[in-house]
Amino acid sequence: MSDPIRFTYRGTVHSVIDAAPTRTLLQHLREDLHCTGTKEGCAEGDCGACMVVIGELRDGALDLKPVNACIQLLPSLDGKALFTVEDLKQDDGTLHPVQQSMVDCHGSQCGFCTPGFVMSLWPLYLEHQSASTTPNRAEINDALSGNLCRCTGYKPIIDAAQQMCALPPVAFDHASLIAQLETLQRDQPFNYAFEGQHFFAPHTLAELAALRSAHPSATILAGSTDVGLWITKQMREIGHIIYLGRVAELQHIRRDHGMLEVGAGVSLNNAYAAICELYPAELTELWQRFASLPIRHVGTLGGNVANGSPIGDSMPWLIALGSEVVLRSTAGKRILPLEDFYLAYQKKDMLATEFVEAVRIPLPVAGRQFRTYKLAKRFDQDISAVCAAFCITLSDDKVTEARIAFGGMAATPKRAHAAEAGLLGQPWTEANVKQAMLLLAQDYAPLSDMRASSDYRMKTAQNLLLRFWLETRTDEPLAADAVNAFAFKVAP
Ligand SMILES: Cc1cc2nc3c(=O)[nH]c(=O)nc-3n(C[C@H](O)[C@H](O)[C@H](O)COP(=O)(O)OP(=O)(O)OC[C@H]3O[C@@H](n4cnc5c(N)ncnc54)[C@H](O)[C@@H]3O)c2cc1C
Ligand code: FES
Ligand code: FES
Repeated sequence: MSDPIRFTYRGTVHSVIDAAPTRTLLQHLREDLHCTGTKEGCAEGDCGACMVVIGELRDGALDLKPVNACIQLLPSLDGKALFTVEDLKQDDGTLHPVQQSMVDCHGSQCGFCTPGFVMSLWPLYLEHQSASTTPNRAEINDALSGNLCRCTGYKPIIDAAQQMCALPPVAFDHASLIAQLETLQRDQPFNYAFEGQHFFAPHTLAELAALRSAHPSATILAGSTDVGLWITKQMREIGHIIYLGRVAELQHIRRDHGMLEVGAGVSLNNAYAAICELYPAELTELWQRFASLPIRHVGTLGGNVANGSPIGDSMPWLIALGSEVVLRSTAGKRILPLEDFYLAYQKKDMLATEFVEAVRIPLPVAGRQFRTYKLAKRFDQDISAVCAAFCITLSDDKVTEARIAFGGMAATPKRAHAAEAGLLGQPWTEANVKQAMLLLAQDYAPLSDMRASSDYRMKTAQNLLLRFWLETRTDEPLAADAVNAFAFKVAP
């Protein structure tokens, strides 16, 4: 017997019993409900035309986030609240301040992208309107990092975002929505089925392990920012689905065994926020450059690691720091150094009955120098051509520890053992670093593809090692900003 998918929409409880578990929220809105204010541009999370806002209860509080409807699966909405651009207009037909501001500042031309921009700005408006503040430029850039416009140019849209809070305010009734969402919460795991395909949403780690064991060929679904594209772009059949979003035990961030342990269900944004408290200088730019804010809200660190893409951004620095992955099955826990988890392209040391429970990140160690660099064509919302991470410890100016890892250089995220061996025990000098740069050619034979040529990848990988040395040389280190003169910077 299938549970219905239930979520709040337009003030009432909306129920669905007859959609495939892989039906996207965007398909449901546009094709089933004929609610066409939400647009489809790319169907892969890149353009923001499909932006909606999802509300959910977290520890009793309401969490409202912009989300790309094109890659979210409809059953993952169970127990949540959905808002589309149609919901913003007031009962008397007056436009919402976010919309009015877009009109006043000429923030729309053809209008195709406009609903998406408005929905990305609405949660920012609510946050600032309730605090009687105005968003600054950095907050606006971040909020709009997942939206593309091909006609207007971004200045009028940014102007609108700066001015929206100056218009007569429109409040939002948080209390009523919380009360409504409370009625939708389930005591038992959610099990939705349609035409033989199941969408399971367990509540506990034990239920998840049992389901994984019973359905080893099912697809585990976390934030759907990789899996969603398998469906919309590759037309893949993904079988039964086991959704992690309801497992509270995967949401922890705590210090354990001298490490920071991040549960596999923690969103990328929350995970990077916690990790950047430990490594602010080293990781904050990568955090800002990882996808876009809406992708980081739903995507998880566990999903990034479990997917293990050779061009993923978290693995190089996790490996360079010596992080561990915690696997779980009904048989218990298994803990591996992350670098041993990746066996070959898309092949991991993870049994069909296992899943990633957490990632453990070493805490900073005095004297250890660590940096990570992402090379991509845009500041944000772009996949890396090369992603590098370097970690060294020096004693009497000699290298006593060297851990180097790259993404974009091999079929898996991979350490540079030859270059590391070339540095170990040697003085931290330009000549030795230049030797190690040459040794990178023994570690990697990168591919040419649409993002970069093999030569570009090798050359930039070598130069990033030189850059790391420039920033960490013991005689006269260059400030990262000085080295950065040629790189992207966030507008103030
Ligand atoms: C527009 C866009 C931009 C992106 N930009 C970047 C970027 O800049 N850098 C980058 O690295 N990535 C990027 N990605 C890829 C993606 O966002 C990340 O890989 C993300 O971390 C995936 O997490 P998820 O929770 O969405 O995983 P999902 O899509 O839900 O799952 C991904 C894979 O991991 C498996 N999985 C998930 N959780 C577990 C678990 N706990 N145990 C076992 N298996 C599990 C799933 O079965 C699937 O195989 C981007 C994606 C999009 C759509
Ligand atoms: S349609 Fe482009 S992000 Fe969804
Ligand atoms: S107004 Fe045409 S794409 Fe933005």
